[in-house]
Formats: sequence, C-alpha cells, structure tokens
Amino acid sequence: MRATISHGIYSVVMESIASLIAGQPKGFPLAQEFYSDPEIFRRDMNRIHLRRWLCVGHESRIPKKGDWFRFDIAEESIVLVRGRDDQIRGLINVCQHRGSRVCYEESGNGNVLVCPYHAWTYDLEGRLRSARQMGEDFETSAHRLPQVHVRILEGLIFVCFAENPPSLDDAARVLRESIGRYGWANARVAHRQTYSVDANWKLATENYQECYHCTPAHPEFSRLHATEKPDHEVAELRAEAAERARAMGIEIPEISHWPDSAPGEEMADSSYDAIYPGSVTGSEDGQPVAPLMGDFTDYDGGFCYADVGPASFFLAYPDHGLMYLFIPRGPQKAEMEIVWLVAGDAREGVDYDLAKLTWLWDVTSVADKLIIDQNQQGVNSRYYTPSAYGPMEEMTRTFTEWYLQEIEDGPST
Ligand code: FES
Ligand SMILES: [Fe+2]
Repeated sequence: MRATISHGIYSVVMESIASLIAGQPKGFPLAQEFYSDPEIFRRDMNRIHLRRWLCVGHESRIPKKGDWFRFDIAEESIVLVRGRDDQIRGLINVCQHRGSRVCYEESGNGNVLVCPYHAWTYDLEGRLRSARQMGEDFETSAHRLPQVHVRILEGLIFVCFAENPPSLDDAARVLRESIGRYGWANARVAHRQTYSVDANWKLATENYQECYHCTPAHPEFSRLHATEKPDHEVAELRAEAAERARAMGIEIPEISHWPDSAPGEEMADSSYDAIYPGSVTGSEDGQPVAPLMGDFTDYDGGFCYADVGPASFFLAYPDHGLMYLFIPRGPQKAEMEIVWLVAGDAREGVDYDLAKLTWLWDVTSVADKLIIDQNQQGVNSRYYTPSAYGPMEEMTRTFTEWYLQEIEDGPST
C-alpha cells in the first residue's frame, strides 16, 4: 500500500488524488504528497480554507473609521476596513481595472483606497468613486471591489470567501461561553508576531493539536501546564481549578465540535485545563503578567482553549490571551501569526511589561517553528515511512481523517 504513495514530492501525475486518499492507511500520518503537491494544496484551499470561516485578527486592530489592515492567504488578499458606519468589511484586494493589489501596505488609514497603479479610487465600502481619463462613456458606478463575508465574535474578526458560508451559530455560542468569559470582546492587541514556517499548513495544525511533543520540545510550557501528569492527577487539578472558577460564577464548557461539526455549522470547540499548582498563568515563572480580564476577579489555576474553523486557535489565561492564526502560503510555506491580547484598558509599561507578557509563547512558537520545519524536511525524504499515531496524538489523527473526507467530498476544484 505504501508503494502507491512513495514517489517524488512535486507531482502526483502517476496517481490521482482519489487513489492517494484511498491508499491512505487509517490511523497513520498522511502520505508525503499531501504535504507537498501543488495540486493538493490548491484543493486544500478551494475545499477547506476558502469555504470556511477564518479568523483574521482582533477588531481592536482597526478601532477608528478608515482604519484598515491587509490579510493574505495563498494567492488571495483582502482588506479589512472599518467604514464610516463603523462596520468592518472585507474587500477583495484586487483592483477592478487591471488587477493590481489596491493596498500594498500591511495596514493604514484613510477616507478612500487608491490603487497605486493608475489611481482608481474606491470608498471604504469598495465602490469605485473615480477613475482617471477613462472616457465619457465610462460608468464608475458599475465597478466595485468584491467582498467576503465578515462576522465579529467576541471581538474576533472572522471572514469567509464562500458564497454560502457555514453557520457560525454554534461557534458564536462556543466563543461566548469560553473566551467571552475572559473579556475578549473588550480586549486589545498588545503584540503581534509572525513566525514563517517552511512547511505545509497541515504540519503546523497537526503539531498544534497534540501535546505529545510538549515535554521534549517545550520544557518552558511543560513546567507550568499539566500535560503529562497521570490522567487522574490532571482530572483532580482541573476539578480544583474549575471549582475556583465556579466561585467567581465562571464555568467553561467542554464542547467538542472540532473538527467534526453539526451539518451546516462551522466547527468549533472549547476546553478547560489546569496549570500546575503554584502557577497561575502562562508566563516564564507562572506568575501574573497583566491585569485580570473579563469576569475574572482572581486566578483560578486554569486556562481555556477554543478553536473555530480550520485555521484559528485561541488560548485564554485570566490575565492575557493568545490567538494562533495558521495561514497557508504555498505547498510548503505557511505563517503562524500569534496575537497577544490584554484587557482593553491595560497600559504597556504600567500594567504590563511586553517582554514578560510575550516570553512563554514566543519561546514556544520559536520551538514549534523549528520542529515543524524539521518535520517537513523529513516528510520530503524518500525514507519517510511514518508509524501509526499514539494515544497522545488522538486529535491529530482525528484532524487528518477529517481532512481526507473534506478534500474527497464535494464538487471538484
Ligand atoms: S490596476 Fe488599479 S488603477 Fe489600474
Ligand atoms: Fe508546540
């Protein structure tokens, strides 16, 4: 069976994608081509990322009317802009004249968006307002930048490129009952950092979904989080933390609709976990790094994970939050954009020290980049012959099985 999936990395000419899927042994990591082939990457984008909801940032990034930032994924680019009516829209960053990007920069502010090529000028709703010297018959009003769907949940900006996006009702409830309790709707971005990985997006996602690697790769994280304690000890710690949270009127539900979701709904989950006794948050020494957020009046000894859609992952401590956005760029190129959130009124240098706030998840992300890059290199080898997933890789196995179904089903690309 493995013989059908062991040829070169840049083409699946000899095998159709369907036969690769059919030849994929159950419970095993994916065949090499799924992490390298341009045609499979294109299918991933068309059937997964461009059909589903993606978080692109926190709305505090564009607080004022006319503020905008650019979000790129594979060959697509959108501009998230706050309009005169205070609504955030997602405008496709492709000029309707001859296709140039309209916004070259990463972010900006203005009353209009002007394409630098020939100066076609769009308003903040994407309507073409002026086009120089196009002749008398030219109808300005016939042109506008296309838009993607945009929804804001707990301050998080989600976009979907599909004409008919999946419902976000379930995800809205999951986020409200998890990170919503940590006050993310009123949070503010304290820092953003992009870690480029020379790997297929699935290797980054698979890595995020298991903590089998945490002890060897993340000693800093493992010191604080109960990742490899025996199950009954973890359960005990979690129960104690949950009890302290309940005393503050907070109860984070365990919801697992990720990656499998109800029909028509976007996938989403939330879970609650414990920090080692003596530590209260995700910092170098486990001690507080910023003012408490949301409904928290004290530290509970716990933290919360939430996931929505194929590429957006969230982690909330009582005093700060992390957004993990995994952005595919090419068959072996992706970005992990990490966003640190603090309470909306927290002031840098007064209420928190940025270096202390970002220390743990920077160290952890640098280590993740290294292991994901090295993973891709090994996967590219002709000697790549993976073993079956182990018990601590259950979520990764579930993800890869879901993935194979997603790219197999539905209309062709
Ligand atoms: S391509 Fe934008 S103005 Fe010509
Ligand atoms: Fe990791």
